[in-house]
Amino acid sequence: METFAFLIHPMDIEDVAKKYKIAKKISPRVIGSVLKRRKPFVISEITGIKSRTGKLATGWFIVVPFLPNQFFDLEQEYVVEKIAKACEVGRKEGAKIVGLGAFTAIPGDGGKEVAKISKVPITTGNTYTIATAIDGTLEAAQKMEIDLATSRLAIVGATGSIGSACAEILAGQVGGLTLIGRDEKRLDKLAARLEGKTGSLEVSTSLQTISSADIIITVTGAADAIIKPEIIKAGAVVCDVARPRDVSELVVRTRPDVLVIDGGVVQVPGQVDFNFDFGLPKRLALACMAETMMLSLEGRYENYTLGKDISVEKIHEINGFARKHGFKLAGLRSFERKLTDAHIQKVKERARFGLALAQ
Ligand SMILES: NC(=O)c1ccc[n+]([C@@H]2O[C@H](COP(=O)([O-])OP(=O)(O)OC[C@H]3O[C@@H](n4cnc5c(N)ncnc54)[C@H](OP(=O)(O)O)[C@@H]3O)[C@@H](O)[C@H]2O)c1
Repeated sequence: METFAFLIHPMDIEDVAKKYKIAKKISPRVIGSVLKRRKPFVISEITGIKSRTGKLATGWFIVVPFLPNQFFDLEQEYVVEKIAKACEVGRKEGAKIVGLGAFTAIPGDGGKEVAKISKVPITTGNTYTIATAIDGTLEAAQKMEIDLATSRLAIVGATGSIGSACAEILAGQVGGLTLIGRDEKRLDKLAARLEGKTGSLEVSTSLQTISSADIIITVTGAADAIIKPEIIKAGAVVCDVARPRDVSELVVRTRPDVLVIDGGVVQVPGQVDFNFDFGLPKRLALACMAETMMLSLEGRYENYTLGKDISVEKIHEINGFARKHGFKLAGLRSFERKLTDAHIQKVKERARFGLALAQ
């Protein structure tokens, strides 16, 4: 039996209240200071993963008890130590590799500092996340009849580990590319790398620039939703890879002429039972979880995805593991719901004929 663990954390106070009901009655500041001192713990055992090859894997979800903002606001050394302690909880449980979920994958240079002190190999899961984000975005763009070669792609969080790889891979396929981030120097460095690989290249620190994009991939480390309805072009595809989400639910409610898809949702082979509700329907996992599962099924017990630079070769390799073991994109989904072709047709009509005409 192959084994792994996966680190998760509460996305908001609601999540904390699922375990500690009192959280709804006390201030976020007090909750933060209580959580800061809590030790990482096992919340469930993951059973029933069965590869197409017949290999079996089992794992554990380990909670790192921090809220999203604490991963950035607390002293980084303390945060890295807490993540490493969570890896150790997994190792003691029997895990031979640990995946760093959501914001546990960001501090310490994208897991590199954690890897230095962890006694068990780790992976951020970002390689398979990139692969599935790209596949999902291209499929959605095709269904929305967006001509890729003349389209403008905006990447929000473009200087990050996932964002920069998406930019690198898609640059040559689109007509124009807008790179959006908060740090001008990092944006310019990325733009220099991509110069000549795409039609028209633009960098911006303003979210407003997404208004000219036909396709948007958003993948920031923001703790709250930053993509608001009013700035998106009619008929655009928005792939939200971030967890917590970058796209406000208001976008889906008020912009039926825009297609928002969840990035990186994957069907797991076998009869997987997570024994824990992390917001996805049965048998589905996030791509970063799936990467950890695949590495365990492969017996690749080594530090796999770390840091900010992820190679295209690695993306091909992880796609190969996915095919071999039977992991695949769980179709197009939006806010945890499956998108039907009929729904996508309606989005197209609303974009073409205006919201009022196509109601
Ligand atoms: N769906 C999945 O399976 C999956 C898997 C892995 C990760 N993720 C999620 O993907 C996201 C990014 O992960 P990553 O590893 O690529 O992180 P990363 O390397 O830290 O990149 C984050 C990017 O977001 C930008 N950013 C950070 N805070 C921001 C804010 N408040 N407003 C605007 N931009 C901001 C950063 O650039 P500047 O600091 O220069 O602005 C950077 O470009 C996270 O939400 C993570 O949880 C999802």
